[in-house]
Amino acid sequence: MSRASRKLEHLKYAIETGQTGVQGFENVHFVHQALPEVALSQTSIATSIGGLQLSSPIIINAMTGGAYETVKINQHLAALANELNLVMAVGSQMSAIKNKEYRSTYQIVRGNNPKGIIFANLGADATPEQANEAIEMIEADGIQIHINVIQELTMPEGDRDFTGILDRLQAIKESVKIPFIVKEVGFGMSKEVVFQLVKRGIKIIDVGGRGGTNFALIENKRRLDPYPFFNDWGIHTATSILEATTVNKTEIIATGGIQNSLHIAKAIGLGANAVGMSGMILRKLVNEGFKQTLGYVNQLHHEIKLIMTSLGAVELLDLQKKPMVILGETKDWCELRGIP
Ligand code: FNR
Repeated sequence: MSRASRKLEHLKYAIETGQTGVQGFENVHFVHQALPEVALSQTSIATSIGGLQLSSPIIINAMTGGAYETVKINQHLAALANELNLVMAVGSQMSAIKNKEYRSTYQIVRGNNPKGIIFANLGADATPEQANEAIEMIEADGIQIHINVIQELTMPEGDRDFTGILDRLQAIKESVKIPFIVKEVGFGMSKEVVFQLVKRGIKIIDVGGRGGTNFALIENKRRLDPYPFFNDWGIHTATSILEATTVNKTEIIATGGIQNSLHIAKAIGLGANAVGMSGMILRKLVNEGFKQTLGYVNQLHHEIKLIMTSLGAVELLDLQKKPMVILGETKDWCELRGIP
């Protein structure tokens, strides 16, 4: 199967399959503060990643490009990012590196958002030269490299050799001049992996946890002989943020099943600087249209400010100083894993 057909199948099945919606945030609670001493008008949802100043914590995370049928989606996502001043990551650009005719399916994103912050995206098989080509292709402000072992193993045509990834990540990191992010695609990052990345100088981690778009389910739909044991694999997003915060010097992006303003506030409260959203925004866009999606994100921004006001947080990252309680499976996990 060609890369372009695979990308279309991913879109189709991601929309169809939806998100499991159990990311661990159901076990995480802010403690109500009856005297917040803050006015809504004082609150700011600005944040930063790798020195880039973001006016919103919401990143439209990597999805697509690389097939002509994806142009309209990328065009709309870019227009959304442009209108709302959101960071946007493009989908894996390897298809355009291998075949120059697909470059325009990614460049449309820069075309529709000339001044915005855009992240390039490649897999961990990329070379430093390819990474720099991907950056140049869309004049990227940051680059994500995705690691997706479970997806590859479940994918009929996927990789089977995962040796040398850390060395390649470090080589790419050292060759690029813009913020460098390593991301999972929905199975989460453990503290051991985050520690290994930080030791190699890689500090911006998108934990890409379990509970949202599930690439085991998606790839299993593409298999004649499914691997059901991978369907429930991985570290939930909330838990993965907690795993990552045990390692010093990280900047965390929380992706994986982020659907509403409370998920965003809880992710930030647990230690993330920003959140990534893919499946939810894709489904809104395809099922409800551009205007509805715009309204949805605007509403998220407003609601995050309401939550901050209720807790007495003026700046977004002040949420990290507010008391939180962690219960249930997430608490048990943290105890067993020695996460304070
Ligand atoms: C993705 N994702 C993804 N990630 C990546 O790094 N490169 C890619 O090319 C893609 N492609 C892709 C296609 C589609 C259709 C979807 C829905 C997702 C993964 C994405 O960035 C994100 O990590 C996961 O989808 C989990 O977030 P959500 O969907 O639960 O918000």
